[in-house]
Amino acid sequence: MSLHRRLLLLFALTVLVSVAAVTIIVSAMARRAFDRANDQRTAALVAQFRREFDRKGEGVDRRVEALTTSSEANRMLIAAARPAPDYSNFLDTARTIADAQQLDFLEFADDHGKIISSAQWPAKFGYLEPAAKPSAPATPFLKEEETPAGSALGLFAVRSTSAGEGKLYVIGGVRLDKAFLATFTAPAGMRVMLYENFGRPSGFAPERLLASGPAVQDAGQIAPLIRQVQQNSRESSAVIHWRSGDDEGITAFPLTGADDELLGILLVGSSRQIYVDLRGQIRSAAFVAGAAGLLLAVVLSSWAAARVTRPVEQLARAAQEVAAGNWDAGLAAGSGTDAGPPSKDEITALADSFHRMTRDLLDQRERLVQSERVAAWRELARRLAHELKNPLFPLQLTIENLLRAREHSQQQFDETFHESAATLLSEIANLKNIVSRFSEFSRMPQPHFQPVKLNELAADVAKLHQAQLAQAKIACDLQLAESIDPIAADPDLLHRAVSNLVLNAIEAMPQGGKLTLRSRQNANAGHIEVSDSGKGLTPEECANLFTPYYTNKVYGTGLGLAIVQSIVSDHGGKISVSSEPGCGATFIIELPANREKLQAAQGTHV
Ligand SMILES: Nc1ncnc2c1ncn2[C@@H]1O[C@H](COP(=O)(O)OP(=O)(O)OP(=O)(O)O)[C@@H](O)[C@H]1O
Ligand SMILES: [Mg+2]
Repeated sequence: MSLHRRLLLLFALTVLVSVAAVTIIVSAMARRAFDRANDQRTAALVAQFRREFDRKGEGVDRRVEALTTSSEANRMLIAAARPAPDYSNFLDTARTIADAQQLDFLEFADDHGKIISSAQWPAKFGYLEPAAKPSAPATPFLKEEETPAGSALGLFAVRSTSAGEGKLYVIGGVRLDKAFLATFTAPAGMRVMLYENFGRPSGFAPERLLASGPAVQDAGQIAPLIRQVQQNSRESSAVIHWRSGDDEGITAFPLTGADDELLGILLVGSSRQIYVDLRGQIRSAAFVAGAAGLLLAVVLSSWAAARVTRPVEQLARAAQEVAAGNWDAGLAAGSGTDAGPPSKDEITALADSFHRMTRDLLDQRERLVQSERVAAWRELARRLAHELKNPLFPLQLTIENLLRAREHSQQQFDETFHESAATLLSEIANLKNIVSRFSEFSRMPQPHFQPVKLNELAADVAKLHQAQLAQAKIACDLQLAESIDPIAADPDLLHRAVSNLVLNAIEAMPQGGKLTLRSRQNANAGHIEVSDSGKGLTPEECANLFTPYYTNKVYGTGLGLAIVQSIVSDHGGKISVSSEPGCGATFIIELPANREKLQAAQGTHV
């Protein structure tokens, strides 16, 4: 993966992870804050409900209390004290008083609990009213009340009055219904509902759910919460996801009667729409921030990549150019300043270092080439002097001998003259030989590339030296790889190089031995190897072998391997040696296939 892509991925990941983390944290905090506020609002509403409830209870209590001293109550008390009371006279009394007192329920009962007059069910006189008893609660309480239209839930108060033996119970109450709920003023986003639970119902009946405002849609969704309170008679809460899309937190409180029976369930609902809207806004903001962050990541990564990768790529290209021999590319890299102010960044510093390094290398190479050239000429002059000194000394001796012989007899002079002339000719021939080898080395021709089959070349060289090998009792082994592709080379020069190696091998095996010629190829190069079983070479000898004039032989010039190396080098190849003293030596020539030269050569040869 490129640096640009990696940077982009890194930046994008950082942005996305940060945005996601911030969104989650902010959402959680918003939810907690909302829940806290919601709990407070619910608690406030419940407290308000309780106050209202108590206030209404007190109102009922007051009115019922007042009724105990009314004239109607007195009349009923007198009537009840009779031995066989007739309550039919009071059929409408309770209803008239209830209307006047704004009570939904009102009943008068005698000390046996028998109803004297009932507002909610006038025909019920003479029946027993369970609440009309001395142990009736002193404070207002919830009660299920039978009416001709069915049961109803009410907030009741019971008071009694007595005169002599007679006792009168006044039981009054208000109905807990939609109208009762409407008297509560709930803050915006909140509402109060009531579930009528009297009559010990099992399960949930939607028609029993009353709300202050419009009827509750999909009331069945509250059923689990209602059942929970029915089972535990304890406060419970739940978040209802209405099908309309609104979320509402509902807290349910049990409303119990005088005997702790569950008569109703008060439900306080608080819309979570504000939180849902807030969460939506947080998410939208996160998406916008994420998108902006991604855009920023793209821009930043491109900028960083441009800042880092482009100069690095330029440096890499310059390094490749330098490796290929184009030193100017290395000099072009960097600012070119030497000891200026410190570079602004690492990349510029790197480019500058590369520039300096290239220039230093170029300087050193120049110096090395010059000193090598000087050393080579010095060595050549030294060798030439040494080589020429050897034949010159016998030449001088012979001529001095000849001059001395002049003083002797003619016959003696003639003898010495013939002898000296032979010596002089031989030494001059020696001198000529030395000079020709030197000039041969100096006039090494440039290769003339042609397709060359290495197997054929190796076989030719072996054939050429066949007689010599036989005479020196050396067995020749040709280990040639099958189907080697031709390479571009100069067949004559290559022949000369391999011949030189074979000659050296023969000279390394004076007692006879085995000479092996091998050929092989890999992807881009052909190899030819010359191995002998001779005396081998020490590591020091291996290091000096290719130095011109390095020889261990009495009549050797030490130019053989130097010429081989020069030929191999002109072909763009390399020569190496592996050897150990006493274990023979192997010289390996590696030659590049030179495909483009091969194609050019094949083109001209077709
Ligand atoms: N196959 C070999 N085994 C052992 N020594 C070798 C072998 N080939 C070369 N040498 C050593 O390397 C030296 C240099 O060899 P090189 O061919 O350059 O010169 P030379 O053989 O001495 O002289 P010339 O080749 O001019 O006759 C030799 O003198 C010899 O000591
Ligand atoms: Mg040699």
